[in-house]
Amino acid sequence: MTLWAGRVGAGLDPAVWEFLRADDAELLPYDVAGTRIHARRLCEAGLLTEAELSEVEQLLETIEAADPEDEDVHSAIERQLGELGRKIHAGRSRNDQVAAALRLYVGDACADADAAIIAFASALLDRADTEAETPMPGYTHLQRAQPVTVGHHLLAWVEMLERDRSRFAFAAAHSLPSPLGAGALAGSTLPLPQPAGGMRNSLDAVADRDFAVDYVYACAALFVHLSRIAEELCLWASSEFGFARLPEEAATGSSMMPQKLNPDVAELARGKAGTAIGRLTGLLATIKGLPLAYDRDLQEDKQAVFGARRDVHGALAALTVLVRGLELDRGRLAAAASDPQLRATDAAEALVREGVPFRDAHEQVAAQVRAGTFEPPADALPRPTPGPSDVRAAVTAARTRLLSK
Ligand code: ARG
Repeated sequence: MTLWAGRVGAGLDPAVWEFLRADDAELLPYDVAGTRIHARRLCEAGLLTEAELSEVEQLLETIEAADPEDEDVHSAIERQLGELGRKIHAGRSRNDQVAAALRLYVGDACADADAAIIAFASALLDRADTEAETPMPGYTHLQRAQPVTVGHHLLAWVEMLERDRSRFAFAAAHSLPSPLGAGALAGSTLPLPQPAGGMRNSLDAVADRDFAVDYVYACAALFVHLSRIAEELCLWASSEFGFARLPEEAATGSSMMPQKLNPDVAELARGKAGTAIGRLTGLLATIKGLPLAYDRDLQEDKQAVFGARRDVHGALAALTVLVRGLELDRGRLAAAASDPQLRATDAAEALVREGVPFRDAHEQVAAQVRAGTFEPPADALPRPTPGPSDVRAAVTAARTRLLSK
């Protein structure tokens, strides 16, 4: 039985029903929470008695998943509230209801993402601390460039993740204002109290999905970072680089080739970045051109948000295991970092300290490199920079930031 059965005579064609039904089971606990808030508003307005409110609150503890007769979770909740369900929808519409539930969902999803990022970043910081002295080549253009330490490299990944945290914090803040009271689009004539910190404009309240875009964008940006990290893990674990061995608890074998140990975790994280970007473009395209206020197109917003939350959780949890167990080959890393050509810039800078213009110094060193006679000069300053104590200090500072907000 639909919530709007009173309006349409004959039942819907089954194909139409199947098409319209929302795939929104994940929203159920959040819609229960929103319904609890609305029930209190009804009670404050004298439209539910205290006894009815406490009965509603008890029934809300027992709400089960929608069944095939329910159009969406909102219908499922109203049905399961029985006789009180017939009162609960006074002064609200599914339009402000679904917006409220999705806002609560996104707030939780942002908190989850933040916790998972902290766990992953903490694993990276632990590794950065132990590898504060481990030299490795730093790259540009995927060509060896200058020596750095593994610790410094891992700290770069942590920087990306810290920016991700600020994007989730932004999305969480924008999910906060409540749309309740907006009703279908223009409020209600009932004397319901407006929620504190509620949205100012009722049309915007039911039409706005910017907070969902912000969340899905934060997920896409995070996944772009994870894909870059994942790509480097794949490179490091290749025989060609030979910098790392994958931990068996986070590696896969081949169904055919018995010798293989494959970086499927990193590859799948990299692959899911494509899906994450697709969710963002999909959600933006869904919203584009929609007239105010609510349109059923908006039912599609949930797929982007649910999928993003699932993948963020899955990828961060698996990558955390991988990073914690990654075995670095310090010998290979040190050998690669001690390639004398990685000191060519330092040699040019030694000449600059003696007063040679940098371009002349560059040309002199380049000529030595081309002739195969280049050797780092004794007066070149020590590398890698930043040195181990700087890396350790940066780890400590990053740990403090991670724990302080
Ligand atoms: N299932 C709908 C959604 O997800 C709920 C709102 C339906 N509102 C309406 N006026 N048909 O958006």
